[in-house]
This record gives sequence, structure tokens and C-alpha cells, in this order.
Amino acid sequence: MSQRRKTTSKGLVQRRTFYGLRARWFTLFVLFFILQLVVVYFRIHDVIMVISLHLNIKLDWIRGLEDNCLDFDSKKHGINHLQIPEIDGSSPKPICPKSPPVLYGKLNLGDEDDDVTMDDVIRNNSWVKAGGRHKPDNCIARQRVAIIVPHRNRERHLRQFLRAIHPVMKRQQADYRVFVIHQAGTGTFNKAKLLNIGYREARKEGIFDCFIFHDVDLLAEDDRNLYRCADVPRHLSVGIDKWDYQLPYDALFGGVIAMTTSQFEQVNGYSNEYWGWGAEDDDMYVRILHSCLGLERANYDVARYRMVYHPSDKNNRVNPYRYTLLVGAAERQRQDGLSNLKYNIVSERSMPLYTNITADVGKPPLRSNVSTFGTRVDIVVSLSLLLLMMTLTCCTCVKSRLMHVIMCPRRIP
Ligand SMILES: *[C@@H]1O[C@H](CO)[C@@H](O)[C@H](O)[C@H]1NC(C)=O
Ligand SMILES: *[C@@H]1O[C@H](CO)[C@@H](O)[C@H](O)[C@H]1NC(C)=O
Ligand SMILES: *[C@@H]1O[C@H](CO)[C@@H](O)[C@H](O)[C@H]1NC(C)=O
Repeated sequence: MSQRRKTTSKGLVQRRTFYGLRARWFTLFVLFFILQLVVVYFRIHDVIMVISLHLNIKLDWIRGLEDNCLDFDSKKHGINHLQIPEIDGSSPKPICPKSPPVLYGKLNLGDEDDDVTMDDVIRNNSWVKAGGRHKPDNCIARQRVAIIVPHRNRERHLRQFLRAIHPVMKRQQADYRVFVIHQAGTGTFNKAKLLNIGYREARKEGIFDCFIFHDVDLLAEDDRNLYRCADVPRHLSVGIDKWDYQLPYDALFGGVIAMTTSQFEQVNGYSNEYWGWGAEDDDMYVRILHSCLGLERANYDVARYRMVYHPSDKNNRVNPYRYTLLVGAAERQRQDGLSNLKYNIVSERSMPLYTNITADVGKPPLRSNVSTFGTRVDIVVSLSLLLLMMTLTCCTCVKSRLMHVIMCPRRIP
């Protein structure tokens, strides 16, 4: 193959080639091939979705949802607009002031102390009532708040979380209760379903105006970020240290969120279909848009959180169907959520700092073989396309004998 440089009969020097393939074409093929592999590996939906979500390109289906809501931006925002009808003004105690009088502001969380035991945390928060409840002594709180925390295999985080949350809630003069929703067994984790279960079970336990759906690994860094609901769903964990206190993408609506009972009912809760890690919060974002509720972010200056480090969880693998589910989120909304929620309560225990509700969420459905079949079709189509392109190019612009013999039907003279 000493064809690197060859003088043709006309005396022109040919371009440098790689086994007869021009370098330009060769690069193009390699890129094309890599692109095909990416498409096959992630499925096309995922590629488009990942790129657009993370580059903040508004996809048509999200834009469509926003356009449907003519009054999307016209709602009054703010936590103090919300009317809580159940508060009885005739009570001897006054209603607590809008701004809690004793807040520390920015908190010094210190180091994550692994030696802290649950007993230490209980001792320091002895004012918390069994089941993880507290309400202010000399005034009536403006909202009754349920904090719903999905959980499994995160005992260390839970200690840190309880250690941080109770003093903050007390200073915020909150009437609240912490529910830890523990998934029984070792099957695939379903966080969104646990949140729905938490909502259902909390409502059986008492009257709540506001639900805070809270990741167990997030610790508030500032107690001025009030754990209250507003006229529109609120995102409380706007800045997280892990992402340099920036929203990683505009559509993010996870971590710590606050929704009233009626908001949560209007969107039919979370989807129950997200088994494994990822996208259940994006699904909630779509539901909120689709219901024309609008949403607001808490004040960026105070809505800051620390994420407690954890290694990835063996039983909470990335859900490969997440983007496929997400594309159908608006269509599924009415049938999938609180309306078809099924689970079994394994146990319910009142612990000193929380209520432990352990639930059996069931198993992920067997996926029909259509999706594996689809993947195979993708592979076959990509490979045939690649082969076709290579054949065409080899036969038209390649002078290499080797490639020609392999690829071309006609022998060269
Ligand atoms: C309990 O409170 C003491 C005194 O404020 C503090 O030094 C200690 O770190 C606290 N322990 C826990 C587990 O929060
Ligand atoms: C909650 O209760 C279940 C079953 O009783 C138990 O296995 C689990 O460890 C408990 N979780 C927490 C966080 O207390
Ligand atoms: C998918 O294919 C496997 C193996 O061929 C089969 O055992 C399984 O029942 C199929 N699942 C469905 C939902 O058809």
C-alpha cells in the first residue's frame, strides 16, 4: 500500500489518503459512526432531551404547555397572598407574625459529623413531640406544614437532616410534622411514589395546608428561607453547593418544593411510573405547566442548601426509560398519579423526631419487549446506513485495491 503519494498520468499530486479513503471522508465516517452509536445507546429521545434541558433550549412541547396558559404570568406570587381558610380567628392566641421574629439568617452548619448519634440529636431537640411535631406556644402558625422525606439506606443523612431541620422550623414558628416515608424491601426505588404515599398518609394523620417534599440529603443553609406554601408551587432549593448555587437548568423543580393541598391535587400528585433515579421532578414541572399553575423560586439569596455527600445507591440505578416517560408526561397526567396510587403500609411508627411510615411500593412493570426491539431496529438501521455510505464512497472516490475488492462489485482493471 505505498499509495500515500501518487503521481497521476496528468502529473497532479493526489491528496493524502488512509488506505485509499480520503482523510476528510474518513473523519466524516468516524463522526457519523459515533453519532449513530450515541443515538442507539441513549435512544434518540434522550439525546434531544438531555441536550435541550441542559442547554436550556425550550422544547416545543414545553413551550406549547406554557402558551396554553394565557394567565401563566399574571398570578399573584408570594407566600403572604395565600389564604388559609381553616385558621380560626376567634382563638385566644394571635396569629403569628408574617416574618418570624427570631431568625439567625445564614447558618453555620459546621462539618458533617459522622459520630453524631440519633440519641444526641434527640437530646438536643427534646422539645420536639413524638412523631416529629412542633407548633409555636404563644401564637397560631400561619400554615400547617407536613415535611415529606422519601428514604431508604440513608440513616446517616437522616440524622444530619433531622439535626438541621427541627431548630430551623422552630425558629420559623412553624406548626409542622416530619414524615419519613421509608421504602420497604430492596427493590427498585421509586421516590415519586413515596412522595405521593407521604401526601396520602399525612392527610390521614392530620390537617395540613402545605406540603414540603424534601430530599433527605439537603440541609438548609439559611433559616430566612421560609418553609411555607404560596399561591403557586414554590421551589425552595434554588441554590445547591454541589452546583455552585446555580440552577443547573431552567426546568429544574426538585430537591425541596412546597405545594398546597389543592395545588398537589390539581396536578394529580407525582407520576408513579419513575422507577430508579431521575426525571420524576421534571415530570412534576411538566404537570405544573400543563395545569397552568405557574411556579416561583424562593429568594435566591436565602434559598441555599448544602448537599450531603453520598456514594451512588446500588438499588437506585438511573432509570433508562426516564426521558421516554417524560415526553409522555402531559398525556399521562390524569391517569397516573394520586388517582391510581396503590401501595401497602408495612408499618407506621411514631419516633421521637419523625413519623416512620414504611410502605411497600410494589415492583416496576415488566417492560414490553417493544423497546428492546426498537433498540435493535436502531442498531440494524444505523449499521446498514453506515455500510451503504461506505460502499458508495469506496466505489466512487477510493482507488485502494483492498477496499475496492471488499466493497465494490466491479473489479478494477
Ligand atoms: C447539641 O448541642 C450542643 C450545644 O449547643 C452542641 O455543641 C452539639 O454539637 C449539639 N449536638 C448535636 C448532635 O447537634
Ligand atoms: C422505619 O421502619 C422500618 C420498618 O419498621 C424499618 O425497617 C426502617 O429502618 C425504619 N426507618 C427509619 C428511618 O426509621
Ligand atoms: C420479553 O421477552 C422475554 C424473553 O424473550 C420473555 O420472557 C418475556 O415474557 C417478554 N416480555 C413481554 C412483556 O412480552
